[in-house]
Amino acid sequence: MPTETQTALPAVVVLISGNGSNLQVLIDAVQTGRVHARIAAVISNRPDAYGLQRATAAGIPAEMLDHTCFDSREAFDQALQERIDSFQPDLVVLAGFMRILTPAFVTHYTGRMLNIHPSLLPLYKGIHTHRRVLEDGGSEHGVSVHFVTPELDGGPVIMQAKVPVLPSDTEESLAQRVHVQEHVIYPRVVKWFVEGRLKLVNNQVVLDGSVLTHPALHMA
Ligand code: GAR
Repeated sequence: MPTETQTALPAVVVLISGNGSNLQVLIDAVQTGRVHARIAAVISNRPDAYGLQRATAAGIPAEMLDHTCFDSREAFDQALQERIDSFQPDLVVLAGFMRILTPAFVTHYTGRMLNIHPSLLPLYKGIHTHRRVLEDGGSEHGVSVHFVTPELDGGPVIMQAKVPVLPSDTEESLAQRVHVQEHVIYPRVVKWFVEGRLKLVNNQVVLDGSVLTHPALHMA
């Protein structure tokens, strides 16, 4: 159970499907006091997600809701919504949550759900982004944090970081370079949100009272 002081902090629920390295940097940022929030729960749709162990090690309630046990996407999202809402979150953070979400689910969390996607959106929506950049011979790649809207990977982008694509790159080396930047920008955006500096207004990103006309850019 959270203490009385902890319940005064904004509550964040983190959804994962796998390793949870972005979850870990958020846990660290909360533990060191850099992000003034409380991770109320971590929920995975996959039983083998290593991130569940990270949550447990940090004393955070960790739950698993296996999507393969549901008959439809709608039924899973409804059950997930009920689990999330039982923690009364101010913010839902998708951190490698590899699910296509139903419009009803997304709409329920409008303006309070963030996602991180490994590309410079609107480029390379969907999966296998690193591979596709390499196949296209791109010279630049990166990561985006955005508000989640019903369009897959299509919500307003808050912050991006760019990385170069090197001639020697493999999918793994490029993914690793992007990951380093993910770990820099995601805690920063979550910090803005929980401090009340970041909002979604009329489908636009508002930071410190001003509409962002371009995503904030972290220079690697
Ligand atoms: C991250 O690279 C994140 O950008 C990506 O999954 C990975 C999760 O890594 N998310 C997506 O592709 C969402 N479309 P992590 O489990 O180590 O945080």
